[in-house]
Amino acid sequence: MSVTPLQALPIEQLRQRSSTKWRKYPPHVLPLFVAETDFPPAPAVTHALSRAVELGDTGYTPPDPGIAQSYADFAQRRFGWTVDPARIRTTCDVMMGVVEILRRVTSPGDRVIVTPPVYPPFYECVPEAGAVVERVPLVDTGSAWELDLLGIEAALAGGARAVLLCNPHNPTGTAHSRETLAALADLAAGFGATVISDEIHAPLVHSGHRFTPFLSASPAAAEVGYAVTSASKAFNLAGLKCALMVTAAPHTADVVRALPDEIEWRTGLFGAIAGVAAFSQESDEWLDALLASLDSNRRLLAELLTEHVPAARYRIPDAGFLAWVDLTELGWGDNPAVTIRREAGVALHLGPLFGDEGLGHVRINFGCSPEVLREAVERIGALASS
Ligand SMILES: Cc1ncc(COP(=O)(O)O)c(C=O)c1O
Repeated sequence: MSVTPLQALPIEQLRQRSSTKWRKYPPHVLPLFVAETDFPPAPAVTHALSRAVELGDTGYTPPDPGIAQSYADFAQRRFGWTVDPARIRTTCDVMMGVVEILRRVTSPGDRVIVTPPVYPPFYECVPEAGAVVERVPLVDTGSAWELDLLGIEAALAGGARAVLLCNPHNPTGTAHSRETLAALADLAAGFGATVISDEIHAPLVHSGHRFTPFLSASPAAAEVGYAVTSASKAFNLAGLKCALMVTAAPHTADVVRALPDEIEWRTGLFGAIAGVAAFSQESDEWLDALLASLDSNRRLLAELLTEHVPAARYRIPDAGFLAWVDLTELGWGDNPAVTIRREAGVALHLGPLFGDEGLGHVRINFGCSPEVLREAVERIGALASS
């Protein structure tokens, strides 16, 4: 059955939003940087939040706002993954969940592996937890990006205590395979290390690819792993502050259970209310329509770059609404997004923030209308040929 793609809101309407995406730069700049999307909210989310506002339901989040069950149902329906809601706890956002788990599974000064190019806050949350970043870059096979399992093995053998995994990976959009994840789990188990899997982009894996929840990759993965996730990327709820820490083994569940209650108190009630609605079956149709739209945009971007910026190197992502684009050949230096914002009026995310692998790169958010995407690439193309 074909799905009608979800249409992004008109730009005049989006400019009335007050979030970072729409307030950081002046109106002549097309904002394709921060990971917010331009679509109307899922109707079930709008309904749940409107009702909460009408009721003045703006107090503290109760111990069980229903989101653990809602996520477990979602994971079963969308990923075929059985999650025990009793092994989930909430907190305010994914990065806080990562930090708090890292604090429990590492000691001060321990090394934690990250796999650049990677979501810039990873470089900050590891030291926030008292640990030290150890970089093991992804391997570019020529047709895909993969975890460098040999490099990770060497780092673990050298004493690294944990791996901070991004699954699917931001910014490359890689949905890691079950085999890779199972091999990673075996390595971690062999060295007594932990894997924390950031799965915030999981609902957005495109057709032709599969999302493998890390904890489901193998029995070893269930033992060594923690997943941290949220409805906030797929459903554009980042400002509402609710994330889930998910475990699949008694001892990891104990670690999460033993976190101070204060960490759970930081869960936003609106985030939990919206998350329950987002993960409910009622929102599946909206999510499928969003995926159809993003699928079309990830391909459109390839066509637009070929036409207007042929020197750009772009690999269509497996997941999400973020594109990792190599602009080295344009000769705009290490940080081409700076030139592009200044000269073309298009705000993209700065490649070098993702690690040295991001020199000469930009990250483009294509969670917008095809018209905005076209205009942005045409502006960059005009600059390139000026
Ligand atoms: C991989 C990844 N993790 C975490 C986040 C942020 O999540 P949160 O706002 O829940 O901390 C993002 C936001 O774009 C992301 O891409």
